Amino acid sequence: MCAIEANVRAAFDLTATAYDRARRQLVPCFDAFYRAAVEALDFPAGAPLATLDLGAGTGLLAGFVATAFPSARLTLIDVAPEMLARARERFAPIIDRVRFVTADYAAAPLEGPYDAIVSALSIHHLEDDEKRALFRRIHAALKPGGVFVDADQVAGATPALERRNKAQWIARARALGVLEDDLAGAIGRMKFDRPATVAAHLRWLGEAGFESVDCAFKDGMFAVFGGWRGA
Ligand SMILES: C[S@@+](CC[C@H](N)C(=O)[O-])C[C@H]1O[C@@H](n2cnc3c(N)ncnc32)[C@H](O)[C@@H]1O
Repeated sequence: MCAIEANVRAAFDLTATAYDRARRQLVPCFDAFYRAAVEALDFPAGAPLATLDLGAGTGLLAGFVATAFPSARLTLIDVAPEMLARARERFAPIIDRVRFVTADYAAAPLEGPYDAIVSALSIHHLEDDEKRALFRRIHAALKPGGVFVDADQVAGATPALERRNKAQWIARARALGVLEDDLAGAIGRMKFDRPATVAAHLRWLGEAGFESVDCAFKDGMFAVFGGWRGA
């Protein structure tokens, strides 16, 4: 594990207990953001989707997927064991269809093949060359006809838009009543962020071999994008 991943792991291990409490304030578009990610999984509701969640944390996105697809089998990978410990509690009622892997997904084998690979608010911690390498490995780990959906934090298209997005995010989180400690914690963790623009993500997905690459949702610094592996 490289130094930055060790730092990311330590930061999220520290925040694991309080993590879920502040999500709706720290992701002001929470409902639309996660809904867009799940709706991008264009499969029948009864499909027994083999699904991998990269940087699953406490299992928020995987939980929405498990609800939308009650027969899905889920693999949750995260570098922070304390975050996965919270996820184990969340999934206790359906533990027989969930697998937990404590690892750095930038280095560990993704295994598979999967019908769907999803991720929320995690891949932006990687450097751009690591994102591109990961996209190629995700493409290879999908079944033909499988989909990759990344609901992530993105950079503004220009420095001015980046400043505006960040200022709007802070204002909206405060308007939603975020605790100043939670906001300060989130701002502190941003030193590990390496967000890229939506345009760069879409280009890299195409270069990795994905088809029908698109951005399904964008609200300031939050976006949902992805693509399909050809059948
Ligand atoms: C902001 S949390 C998001 C958690 C969850 N996906 C959600 O939507 O709430 C980011 C998670 O990604 C994990 N993470 C970041 N880089 C990682 C890596 N290279 N390998 C595995 N997990 C990673 C962190 O440990 C953390 O749990």
